[in-house]
Amino acid sequence: MKRTLRPARSIGGTITLPGDKSIAHRAALFSIIAKAPITVKNFPNNADCLKSLEAARVLGVKVKMAGEDFVLTPPESLQHAPDTIIDCGNSGTTARLLSGILAGSKVEGTLTGDDSLRHRPMKRIIDPLTDMGAELFADEGRLPMRIRGTKLRPFEYLMPVASAQVKSALLLAGLASSSAVIIREDRITRDHTETMARELGDGISVRDVKRLVVADQDDPRKRHMQMSEPFKREITLSADARITGGSVDIPGDISTGAFFMAAAAISGRSLTIENMGLNPTRTGMLNHLKAVGCAVEITGKRTISREPRGTVTVTGGALKSRRISGETTVALIDEIPIVAVMAAFATGTTVIRDAGELRVKESDRLTAISENLRLMGVKCGVLEDGLAIDGGRDLSGADFLSHGDHRIAMAFSIASLFLVGPSTVDDDAVVAVSCPGFYELLDQIVK
Ligand code: S3P
Repeated sequence: MKRTLRPARSIGGTITLPGDKSIAHRAALFSIIAKAPITVKNFPNNADCLKSLEAARVLGVKVKMAGEDFVLTPPESLQHAPDTIIDCGNSGTTARLLSGILAGSKVEGTLTGDDSLRHRPMKRIIDPLTDMGAELFADEGRLPMRIRGTKLRPFEYLMPVASAQVKSALLLAGLASSSAVIIREDRITRDHTETMARELGDGISVRDVKRLVVADQDDPRKRHMQMSEPFKREITLSADARITGGSVDIPGDISTGAFFMAAAAISGRSLTIENMGLNPTRTGMLNHLKAVGCAVEITGKRTISREPRGTVTVTGGALKSRRISGETTVALIDEIPIVAVMAAFATGTTVIRDAGELRVKESDRLTAISENLRLMGVKCGVLEDGLAIDGGRDLSGADFLSHGDHRIAMAFSIASLFLVGPSTVDDDAVVAVSCPGFYELLDQIVK
């Protein structure tokens, strides 16, 4: 449905977010290959994670409630019929991680998804899984994809693309097939798969490569840091690695929190979010807020299920522009739509580079962001791999298009709070992909 949003007088309050989507996917999908039940606290009820849970059910996992917790009991052996079709909906994480599991299990089935997911690239998992010996069949590297599970070969891989989904697909394939896997990353991506595998199982280790101080070749008076090997992190899964089971407590989703923190940032007011995930591979938004002039205070920091979390208070300030590229872009990959909205309210030009991946997310986000920013009256250039956004004043309300993308709908709903006059977002239901209660949370913070 079309939703009308009006300018906010003020922003403030304290909120708690639904559980982290990335962690929840992994809890649901790990249960397919676990040796004993996995109990999950704070599983979010968003459409994406429910797709992973449904896929687990189709393959024989029993899902029971114990109070508010989910108990996921793995089957003795995976249930399947060769004509099994699993619909992953809009969820790239379900499709890619599940591909790894099926490829290394004794099952056969087909994965498909909605129109957006059927256009997203799967070659990035098909190629390395095929090198492991997997049998995957997809026309032009897109869903639907048929997978015939088989015993896989030991595998070593230097990641050519910074993608936690690809890394996770390969690790899950190794776990499902009892095959050794070594993954090397030169840009570190979210590490929930390896973190959860260490928490709920054994046989996986993570090594950060040492950084060395070396003399500059041209000017020996100068020193700079260099990696001692041509990558930053190595994840090693042994052939006897397994998921034994246990419990996972999911912290609030920082990628959802980003929208509300941005509202505080633009308004110049304070907002507190309790129990928010603070895994260092996910906190790019907190660094960004500080870099553009906001105050970020963290209290009550603690680690449960190996995932750090805490209470975060963001206080907005006069927003500055910033250049975002390389690892900073990777650390903000899901936050770029709302970072772009913040840039519209900052002084100067924000340049975002190395963001070509945004073209193959739930929508072509570079196009979706630039079109919507221009509707507000913002000057926005589209670069081959990014955006150049000029901050403006007295920006006008507009009729925004979500492009069927939850994060675009949420980002421009936040923008609407700070524009002159009312705005609309064409399809508010799309937020259910990651945060069905988004507009209720927004009501809590808008004064
Ligand atoms: C995710 C990884 C990222 C991210 C996505 C969730 C995950 O995708 O954008 O929303 O849970 O592993 P890529 O692996 O394609 O970068």
